[in-house]
Amino acid sequence: MQVAIDGPASAGKSTVAKIIAQKLSFVYIDTGAMYRACTVIARNHHLDYGDEEGILKAIDEDGIELRSEDGKQKVYSAGKDISLEIRTPEISANVSQVSALPRVREKMVSLQRKMAGEMNVIMDGRDIGTTVLPNAEVKIFLVASPRSRAERRLLDFKERGIETNQTVEEIEADIAARDYKDSHRKVSPLKKAADATEIDTTHLSIDQVVEQILAEIKKSEKKF
Ligand code: CDP
Ligand code: CDP
Repeated sequence: MQVAIDGPASAGKSTVAKIIAQKLSFVYIDTGAMYRACTVIARNHHLDYGDEEGILKAIDEDGIELRSEDGKQKVYSAGKDISLEIRTPEISANVSQVSALPRVREKMVSLQRKMAGEMNVIMDGRDIGTTVLPNAEVKIFLVASPRSRAERRLLDFKERGIETNQTVEEIEADIAARDYKDSHRKVSPLKKAADATEIDTTHLSIDQVVEQILAEIKKSEKKF
């Protein structure tokens, strides 16, 4: 079974995906973390964020690995744990430029499909239902108002121990800029798949969103 969760920044994709993965013993794959890792690699190699050739070579050199440690998702590159580094505002501000590079996407999509393999997976991102797993049995498109997403992001920073001087207005502007770039790029833009179920999480608790997605999974299981 493949479950695809797409949507704009901070709609709650990874939070609910992790909970569902745990409840159903599915493997959770955070594709955003992979594009963020590509951006960290570009920065570490002092490359321009538009230097496709250079970035591809650097990714080959350093590698990207998603690991599960004590139930927590970790991202490693060049033997280092970069799980916190990938979430900093600097990386968030530049990831959309790197993720728009066609050959970087090609590389990540092929890795993602390989990871999905024969296992039961729940994968979140921007193009999972449209491009990475077009035959996923369940496709969800999560949305929420920009302000509530910015408020959630600020809270998330605190919980993860990431220091920031940004105000909620600045975070909202950053999120809006990233959504715009992600929705307008040429290759696999952020878009609801025709057969995806849209859920607006603005006024829903995490548990309510989880319940709705579990109901969709149950519905699809009955079809087989
Ligand atoms: O957590 P947040 O919603 O802020 O973003 P993310 O899921 O970590 O994704 C970070 C960035 O990676 C996005 O803004 C996109 O530019 C890119 N991304 C993508 O292009 N395709 C995906 N499947 C996942 C993420
Ligand atoms: O993965 P994505 O960027 O879509 O969002 P996230 O990293 O899961 O962040 C969403 C934040 O909103 C987390 O701090 C959640 O605790 C919170 N939240 C949520 O995910 N869903 C709700 N219905 C309410 C709050």
